[in-house]
Amino acid sequence: MTPKKKGLFITLEGIEGSGKTTQIPGLRAFFNEYGHSCLVTREPGGTKIGAKIRRILLDPAHKNMASNCELLLYFADRAQHLQEVVAPALQAGQIVICDRFFDATLVYQGYARGLDRRMILDLHRLVFDGLLPDITLLLDLAPAQGLARAWSQINNGGRTEAESRFEAEKLQFHEKVRAGYLDIARRDPERFHIIDATQPAADVGRQMYTILKHHLD
Ligand code: TMP
Repeated sequence: MTPKKKGLFITLEGIEGSGKTTQIPGLRAFFNEYGHSCLVTREPGGTKIGAKIRRILLDPAHKNMASNCELLLYFADRAQHLQEVVAPALQAGQIVICDRFFDATLVYQGYARGLDRRMILDLHRLVFDGLLPDITLLLDLAPAQGLARAWSQINNGGRTEAESRFEAEKLQFHEKVRAGYLDIARRDPERFHIIDATQPAADVGRQMYTILKHHLD
């Protein structure tokens, strides 16, 4: 099921430790201030079924997961999430903020894992009618810095080690993820906004609100 969009679909993207999740409460407050409620959700794991799929996908014990299995599990999570959460909200005219969406699949499974990007785009078109967000905020920083942040969050309990399968990938994998994001952002400058994620969180937030304000005016 793909929505006939009426609401505003906003996604956050970036490498591990780019600070997407930190920005969510501020984004919610920003929209509330402008008199809009917003629905905040995420992939993978934005539904009860998706939470189970997320556990399988991110379990560091699943080192031998086949790339196509990984790809299709992200698609399965998305199918449930679109039908149960995103499509009804957009159809009702709501603002939806989603922590990761299809761009993550193209970048992680395509650019970084090496699956054929044409095949991933075709699948997305066949299954989800090629649904894309209206606005994508890409938090960009060097992978060494992002990974250091992510691992310190894992080590101090702020993030669970049970979900560390991607953090455990080599730096080279994350370099490909970053390069992939920058490449797709360059190809679609209307939709993507690249934000320097090395800035203090408050400055990252302010930059996001300025971008979003333009879309509300
Ligand atoms: P999160 O930690 O931001 O919730 O994302 C979970 C991990 O899943 C993160 O390492 C990126 C990865 N991922 C993909 O590889 N493909 C996808 O399609 C999505 C949505 C996430």
